Amino acid sequence: MAYNVAVIIGCLRKDSFTRAVFNAASKLAPATLKFEVVEIGNLPIFNQDTEAGDAAVKAFRDKIAAADAVLFATPEHNRSVPAALKNALDWASRPWGQSKWGGKPAAIISTSIGNIAGFGANHHLRQMLAFLNMPTLGQPEAYVANANTVVDDKGEIVAASKDFFTGFFAAFAELIKKHK
Ligand SMILES: Cc1cc2nc3c(=O)[nH]c(=O)nc-3n(C[C@H](O)[C@H](O)[C@H](O)COP(=O)(O)O)c2cc1C
Repeated sequence: MAYNVAVIIGCLRKDSFTRAVFNAASKLAPATLKFEVVEIGNLPIFNQDTEAGDAAVKAFRDKIAAADAVLFATPEHNRSVPAALKNALDWASRPWGQSKWGGKPAAIISTSIGNIAGFGANHHLRQMLAFLNMPTLGQPEAYVANANTVVDDKGEIVAASKDFFTGFFAAFAELIKKHK
């Protein structure tokens, strides 16, 4: 049984370390997890006056609705999630009663170029996912410190972190299986 996992990268910049970490780490996932990055940079700023959404919003909602699970890989901006990620969460949570997130198993990878590894972003995101009714992987927690150093020049996770990511994705696959 394979699972379609929508991947939300929390930041927009082209050379994102977070995206590089996801690209490298996802190679260590079991074959049962089929990842598709769902881009969030083309979404307008959420405004409840227009919450029906434009074509980009509708396409985004459809991709989340079609996914079996969601992986969030996000850096930390000012001790929380980047605005682009909050915006994406808000769009697919509305209109009220029609959230696309509910019930979908989730996992979080938080990153930072510093030592605190996006702890603030990770836990603000957990708070939102609890409200959005997404069963979220508890252990192992993926806090990626010094994110600019965990992917080598061949695009692979460095040796010291490989077992961690292998275990992380195995646990996520188990969580998804449990909720299907
Ligand atoms: C607006 C802004 C706020 C930031 N705030 C934090 C922060 O609170 N904690 C942290 O560890 N790093 C912070 N950083 C630094 C990020 O860890 C760093 O820019 C990192 O490269 C972002 O991930 P990315 O490479 O995937 O874009 C901040 C960066 C920006 C641009």
